[in-house]
Amino acid sequence: MIIYLPVNSPERAEQLRVLRNECAFAMTRDTTPVTAAKQRRFFEEKIATGIIEGFLAFDGDEPVAYGLLVPSEDGRIWSSTGVAESRRGEGLGMAVTIENVRRCHARGLPIWAEVRTDNAGQQKICRRIGYLWVESVTRPGMTADVFRCGELAP
Ligand SMILES: CC(C)(COP(=O)(O)OP(=O)(O)OC[C@H]1O[C@@H](n2cnc3c(N)ncnc32)[C@H](O)[C@@H]1OP(=O)(O)O)[C@@H](O)C(=O)NCCC(=O)NCCS
Repeated sequence: MIIYLPVNSPERAEQLRVLRNECAFAMTRDTTPVTAAKQRRFFEEKIATGIIEGFLAFDGDEPVAYGLLVPSEDGRIWSSTGVAESRRGEGLGMAVTIENVRRCHARGLPIWAEVRTDNAGQQKICRRIGYLWVESVTRPGMTADVFRCGELAP
């Protein structure tokens, strides 16, 4: 059984870091590995302060996926999700993406996502669950689609 637990301790932030680094290649902004020292600061400055909400999906004791709600300066909330390399293709990506949408909608806000055009899995997930395409963005080395989800698909 998969359970969701908050990233509410340095230990869980470290588990998040390991997962995030396995997913870094798919990120649209920073694809560099996060160090343990940088993650400690991230936990203290962003998570412990409540600026960023994060959860881990656990299968027993094993962290297998994560979701983050990341605000931008313009007030939008962005989804960041990922699945352990060894656990892809089991439906976890879909599950944590939906969980992140629900958490944002519970705040009464739409959720935004920026997804590389070559990220076939996340493109499929977002389009299927009710994210709507807003615009394309191009940055050195990648193109991405910006999606907004105001309501989950039935
Ligand atoms: C993208 C990612 C989250 C998908 O997670 P996952 O657990 O493998 O996805 P799921 O098992 O829930 O699959 C959902 C659907 O996407 C499809 N899919 C998943 N990966 C795919 C891929 N690489 N190519 C094509 N389709 C893919 C699945 O077949 C499934 O479709 P189906 O229900 O029609 O069979 C995962 O590959 C990952 O963590 N990637 C790195 C991080 C990342 O991209 N995060 C999102 C950043 S915006």
